[in-house]
Amino acid sequence: MRFDILTLFPALFDSVFSDSIVKRAIDAGRVEIHIHNIRDYAPGKHRVTDDTPYGGGGGMVMKVEPIVLALEAILGAERVARQKESGIVEVPIVLLTPAGRLFNQSIAHEYEAKGRLVLICGRYEGVDERVAELAATDELSIGDYVLSGGEIPAMVVVEAVTRLVPGVLGDMRALVEDSHARGLLEYPHYTRPFIFRGRQVPEVLVSGDHARVERWRREQALRRTLERRPELLAKAPLSAADLRFLAELLREKGNAAKLEALGIDAIRRFAQALADANLGPNAEDEVLGQVLDLFPTEDDKTQGADVGEANAGPDNEPI
Ligand code: ADE
Repeated sequence: MRFDILTLFPALFDSVFSDSIVKRAIDAGRVEIHIHNIRDYAPGKHRVTDDTPYGGGGGMVMKVEPIVLALEAILGAERVARQKESGIVEVPIVLLTPAGRLFNQSIAHEYEAKGRLVLICGRYEGVDERVAELAATDELSIGDYVLSGGEIPAMVVVEAVTRLVPGVLGDMRALVEDSHARGLLEYPHYTRPFIFRGRQVPEVLVSGDHARVERWRREQALRRTLERRPELLAKAPLSAADLRFLAELLREKGNAAKLEALGIDAIRRFAQALADANLGPNAEDEVLGQVLDLFPTEDDKTQGADVGEANAGPDNEPI
């Protein structure tokens, strides 16, 4: 996997890429990272990379020319233009910006499959829109917050993609990929000592009963996901046993309300899945009834169900 990173602050990458899983991947010859200083491509004696915005307003905008010249030097002008014209992307050119689509595990897989990725780190108030018009094939945000530049987001993308490169995680990757926790939040982990300040490791984990341990982990993952990120349940592949456990959780106070974040359609699908899982002839009505009882109708809604934008990926990867 080859990464090319365009930045005005190349030194920011030194420590992160010289001491991490990324470093190991580089040393093992599985990953190459090329850092390019955008300033090197800025024309003129002063190598200016930013300017004031047309239309006024505060702050500075990164200029289009140095970035496009850098991309053309790295990939060839023809390839940069061809990708934009044809819409066929061989090498994704990603502009990191809080205005981009939200990065997630399935996008990381998508990039890993390409084998090569170019990341442009924006700075200041923004990047001249013509970078997106002429060259970038993707605009990506790592979350709904504003950082002072795209460098840390680029590191996030590099690490997430590098972990997926075959051989980088060794056996661990196989474990993660085989895990039944796909699409759910991770279950809790414990290691020695068995008791710390009166807090004991759950007995099941020392029972030696592998099947019970697996079931407990799965249930913990389901419980956490319902409590913290219920919207993920709408996409996670769930077994009949999972659905039965979730139906139990729904009877616990407050949990059904969490499903509000899924939206009514997702709840209907969930209820349908419950019914399909042969939980009995009335399972669907029962669960749907329980859930819908907790929702205000349009008429008695005094305030909107403001659960915010889910920050979830449409992926089925363990999180
Ligand atoms: N640049 C500044 N904030 C960012 C964010 N949240 N994601 C990607 N790039 C950014």
